Order: sequence, then C-alpha cells, then structure tokens
Amino acid sequence: MTSDSGEDYDPETLFDTSRNNRQQIYNNRELVDTNHVPAADKIVGRKEEIQRLANVVSPLIDGQPTNSVLIYGKTGTGKSLVAKHIMQRLEVEAEQRPTDIGTAYVNCGSANGTTRAVRNIGASLAPEMSSVSFPTRGLSTDEYFERIWEVVNTHYDSVIITVDEVDMLRDDSPLMVLSRAGETGVVDVPISIIGISNKINYRDQMDERTKSSFGHREFVFDPYDAAQLREILEHRREAFQENVLGDAVIPRIAALAAKEHGDARKGVNLLFYLGEHAVEEGYDEITEAMIDDVRELADAERLNSLISGLPSHARLIIVALAALTKGDEGTDQWFRTSDIFDTYEIYCEREGADPLSGERRRQILDELSFLEITEAKTNHGGKNVGTYKEHRLMYDPDVVEHVYDATDPAML
Ligand SMILES: Nc1ncnc2c1ncn2[C@@H]1O[C@H](COP(=O)(O)OP(=O)(O)O)[C@@H](O)[C@H]1O
Ligand SMILES: [Mg+2]
Repeated sequence: MTSDSGEDYDPETLFDTSRNNRQQIYNNRELVDTNHVPAADKIVGRKEEIQRLANVVSPLIDGQPTNSVLIYGKTGTGKSLVAKHIMQRLEVEAEQRPTDIGTAYVNCGSANGTTRAVRNIGASLAPEMSSVSFPTRGLSTDEYFERIWEVVNTHYDSVIITVDEVDMLRDDSPLMVLSRAGETGVVDVPISIIGISNKINYRDQMDERTKSSFGHREFVFDPYDAAQLREILEHRREAFQENVLGDAVIPRIAALAAKEHGDARKGVNLLFYLGEHAVEEGYDEITEAMIDDVRELADAERLNSLISGLPSHARLIIVALAALTKGDEGTDQWFRTSDIFDTYEIYCEREGADPLSGERRRQILDELSFLEITEAKTNHGGKNVGTYKEHRLMYDPDVVEHVYDATDPAML
C-alpha cells in the first residue's frame, strides 16, 4: 500500500504504542484524571470537612439511621472528592463489621435528566449479582425507584447515596424521595444522602419539603489558596516521568487556578491537557510556555461539553455574543437580549439556517445562564425604558471560536 506522500506505510506499526512517546511522558496518567480519588495522605486541607462528614454518616456503619447533608462550594473545591473518599472509607470500615452497607454515586450533570439520574443510582447501588436490573431505557422514574427500594431491602443494612451536581436536575424530587424513604416506609433500613451543589445559593431554589428533610446540615467548602493548590498539584507530579515536568509549570498553574477562585479542577485538568499535548506533538518535556497553548483548548472542551446537550442553535447564540464581546473590548461587555438576537440572525443567514422563534431563543439564553456559560441580569430601566435583560459571556471569545469551528453546519 502506498500513501499520498510516497512514504512507506506499514500497517503493522500503525497502532504500535512504543512508536509514540506516551511512555516517555507518563508514569501514571490516572493521577491527572479529574475523577481519580487520591489516597488519604494526598488530600490537602480538607481534614476538618472529612471529619465532620464522617461524624454525620458514622451511625450507618452499625446500620443506624443518620441525617442527610448538603455540601456547597464552587467548582474544584474538593466536594466530589471528599464525598467519594468518605464512601470508600465507610465501605472499608463496614467490612470489619457485620453491616452490609450499600453505596451509590450519581453525577446529575452527566446523567442527562431526572429519570436517568435515578436509574444510574439504582445501577450503582445494585450488587453485581442482583436479580433486579436497571435497563437504560423503557422504565419510568417511579419504576426505577421501586427497584431501588427492592435492592435496598434485599441486600443492605444501611445505604449512603451521593447525588452530585444536584442543581443540574430540573426538580429536586429525587432528593426528597430518597431522603424521606425511611419516613415513608418504603425501605426498612436507613438511607442517608449526600447532596452536592456547585451553587452556593442552591438552597434557595429547593422545594420546602426537600429542605426540611435535610434540616440544616450543610457544609460549605471554601476555595483553596495558592499554596494549597500547589500542594495538590505537586502530589500529581508522579503522573509524569521524572524530568518531564519543568520546574515552573506547577507554580504557574497553581497561580492560574488560584485566580480562578481557587479551582483545583482547573489545575489538575491543565496538567492533563499538558500531558496530552506533549504526547500529540511528540515533545519530551512540558514547559511553562506550553500552558497558554492548552488553556484555550481545555476551556473549549469544557464549553463544548456544556453545550452538547443544548439545541444546535445555542452555538450560534453563543457565537453571536462572542462576536459582540470581541467587538466591544474595553466596555463592560454586557449586551441586551435584542442586540444578541440581531447578531444571531446575521450568523443564521451566514450559515443558511432558519432563525428560531423569539420564545425558543429566549429559552436558550436562559439555559446558557443556567449552565453558567453566560451571566444574566435584569435591568429596571425606568419609566420610558422598561425592564430589559443583559447578558455577559463567561468565556474568552477566542475559546468560543474553537467551538464555532467545530460546529457542523449540517446540524443547524
Ligand atoms: N483537597 C484536595 N486534595 C487533593 N486533590 C484535590 C483536593 N480537592 C480537589 N482535588 C482535585 O481537584 C479536582 C477537582 O476536585 P472535585 O472534588 O472534583 O471538586 P468539586 O467536586 O468541588 O468540583 C479533582 O481532580 C480532585 O482530585
Ligand atoms: Mg464535583
């Protein structure tokens, strides 16, 4: 077989991993995966939070009922990590005792809807050998709940369920149903919930009855400072082979993450992107200068995954807002709904797409601020102006350009 360039093309070596430099870059790639749960001695600055949470859930080890808790805090403050860590420790501890403890974890941000989130809880909770199944489709939320109760009553003495990014659910009824399962008598063993939200004000949007079932057991996780971020990232250095990571890289990333409200996720994720970048480009080391190359890509991927669940025109609306933002550097960068829609229509024309109705556009704008891609505020303009909304893009417009480039015009 010949290739266009005339070079020899050998199918035998196409997938030969020893030919690329993955092994030269990575020692243990898992350490820069943001879902990885680090060992206890690698968890930085969360001793008190872990102890307080342990105090709340410890009765479960003896099959005794306990409270549910809510954890709040900004992205990357270790909420998911601490909850997973506590569940792991509970499991280990319960092994020493006659208690069978059931644990489940669901991330509502990636579960795509209430029914799917409930289904995933069931699938996570059911032991491998369970006769109760949780098919991915075809069942109602109620039916999944029925099956969850059956699993709980058949297999366990107590249960703990972490419902992560719970604000991504449109209604909090699953939280209420789960946290009140004991009271309502559908299960005969204690169930305790750890609800987690990235939104500090999530409590305000909760149903009163859900709130009351959680009582006032709330933890707020504070952002990390630069020193803590640096320590967190230093523990991930072993993801890479010795001498791969330049000395200035971690301090610089820690400083960037500190600026970003102390977001450890941002930091770990940048290390991940740096590693991938080095492999792709065939570099044998990672330098500070590469950070800027990957920052934009990392943000673009995050933005892309956020909008992947939205109608395709959401991309054009974001692109319109990005264009306004870019064209108006130096101003406060807030734009009125009508201005965004005017620009959106220009992009529709350019792409040969029919503009959506006013109602649907507005829905998309609401979604964008819900996902914190934009920020929205309502202005009361006074007697002759009336009330109007303004929006601000939370991403660099250059990041949006990547997303636009990735848009398939056929999808619009
Ligand atoms: N205290 C910590 N010690 C070590 N790593 C941490 C700590 N807090 C967060 N991380 C790491 O930062 C990333 C984001 O943490 P995560 O728990 O997902 O944050 P949150 O759920 O609050 O958004 C993960 O890779 C996690 O392992
Ligand atoms: Mg989280």
